[in-house]
Amino acid sequence: MPQCLNAEEAKEFRDFFRDSGYTTQALQKRFGAAGIRQLDLLKLYLLGILLEPSRLTTLFRWFWIGVPVETVTAAELIPERMISLFLKAGVLATKDGSLVSTARVSPFAEYLILSDHAVSRTGTLRADTILWPNPATLICYHLSIQTRVGRTLDLGTGNGILALAAASHSGSVVATDLNSRAREFCVFNAALNGVTNVEFREGNAFEPVTGERFDLILANPPFFVTPSVRRVYSDNSMELDDFCRKLIREAPEHLNENGYCQMLAEWVQVQGQAWQDRLKECFEGLGCDVWVLVNYVQSASDYAVIRIQEDRDDVPTPEAQAALTNQWQAYFESNRVEAIYGGMIVLRKREGRNWIRMEELPHPQRPFGEFLRHTFENRDVLESHAADEQLLATRPALPGSARLQKQFAICPEGWKLTSVDLQLGEGLPYSLALQPQVADFIALLDGKKTLAEVADRIAAAQSIDPAVVKRDCCRITRQLADRGLIHL
Ligand SMILES: C[S@@+](CC[C@H](N)C(=O)[O-])C[C@H]1O[C@@H](n2cnc3c(N)ncnc32)[C@H](O)[C@@H]1O
Repeated sequence: MPQCLNAEEAKEFRDFFRDSGYTTQALQKRFGAAGIRQLDLLKLYLLGILLEPSRLTTLFRWFWIGVPVETVTAAELIPERMISLFLKAGVLATKDGSLVSTARVSPFAEYLILSDHAVSRTGTLRADTILWPNPATLICYHLSIQTRVGRTLDLGTGNGILALAAASHSGSVVATDLNSRAREFCVFNAALNGVTNVEFREGNAFEPVTGERFDLILANPPFFVTPSVRRVYSDNSMELDDFCRKLIREAPEHLNENGYCQMLAEWVQVQGQAWQDRLKECFEGLGCDVWVLVNYVQSASDYAVIRIQEDRDDVPTPEAQAALTNQWQAYFESNRVEAIYGGMIVLRKREGRNWIRMEELPHPQRPFGEFLRHTFENRDVLESHAADEQLLATRPALPGSARLQKQFAICPEGWKLTSVDLQLGEGLPYSLALQPQVADFIALLDGKKTLAEVADRIAAAQSIDPAVVKRDCCRITRQLADRGLIHL
């Protein structure tokens, strides 16, 4: 059980890891982006033994791979002060003349995060394993809005990483988890990273925050669609996607007006019903605008094979895996599940007539929370400026990260322009094909001139009827603003 460090000790701990070069880049370079979860115990031990002895590789052995280092060897490479700090924090323990780590330490953004090890010494991960930061964590981190908010809730906090990251732009954060072990890790990690405005509460779903409201709710919940619970971090005890649906249904009563709930989810498509229709039923009467971004879809049978393969610790033999796959497929068949969809769901609580937007898009490898927020706000402006005269009084701006991509094809006369595409260097990876004149128009959108002034300028330069240009400018502005490609 990790023991919280005081502020000075925590800084020493962090500085030592940083100064030793224990970074995401160094770990990826050494162990690959996929990490070590795919390796069995023997390979792990070999990997640990084969590393050349150094300060950094000693940290790798302990806190990444999870293999012991002989105490005498460690004493030659790691300052005594740090070894005693690690022992005091409970992240190292002595065993048979060696020092063994009790937890994994992962660098994530500017944080160091303690979790359970990715590979267990017993060969099987415990059911209440505290997960390490992983690709889904990164997606949720990128998804999160970054603007200053009052209260944030991180539901299913685990090691606490999303709560800590949100703490930098929140007045206060409540981090909740069903798993009682999460308290130790979340509280330890807050202290380790010098974060003082995160409070941990234990409990199921929204129960720990009954009657409370937030400006931002983040959730990377246990969304796997499984017939039984194997690990608390990935599976839940409700049927199919009912747990995610429950979170969606209950989130609005915990949101302040204009508050956002941003979550990862998986949902099923059942025979005879489009997935969109099933989701829409769930969104009915929420009092929220909803944006669904679908990142992947798998047939029920592929899903069973992939999920079982991903977490095969409990089913090491091919026979056991085949039997379990059959069991999962029977479960899906009996529930008429044809496919499983995965992605992100963003709710924004707003009075008035709400909208639902659903689209398929790969997950962008960069932050896009603020892009989403701007786009929600653009939609508000479009709604309140429905008439052209109103829109013409706004001052749209093209973001500084906008880029125009032109393609030319060779033809007998030389190079001929074939396409002009607008893209942003931030947010969602949209690409919009433009007419060349439209590209010239949007270049004039600087946030200072009104849309009417821009339209008049174009009309004068090209001797076209200003009324026609204004109508076209409004139409294009609506289209671009709706995709978040300009700011209103
Ligand atoms: C996928 S992990 C996410 C951990 C961390 N937030 C992250 O993004 O890396 C899901 C977390 O939800 C917790 N959890 C599982 N069932 C829950 C429930 N019914 N209510 C609240 N939390 C739950 C698990 O213990 C786990 O910590």
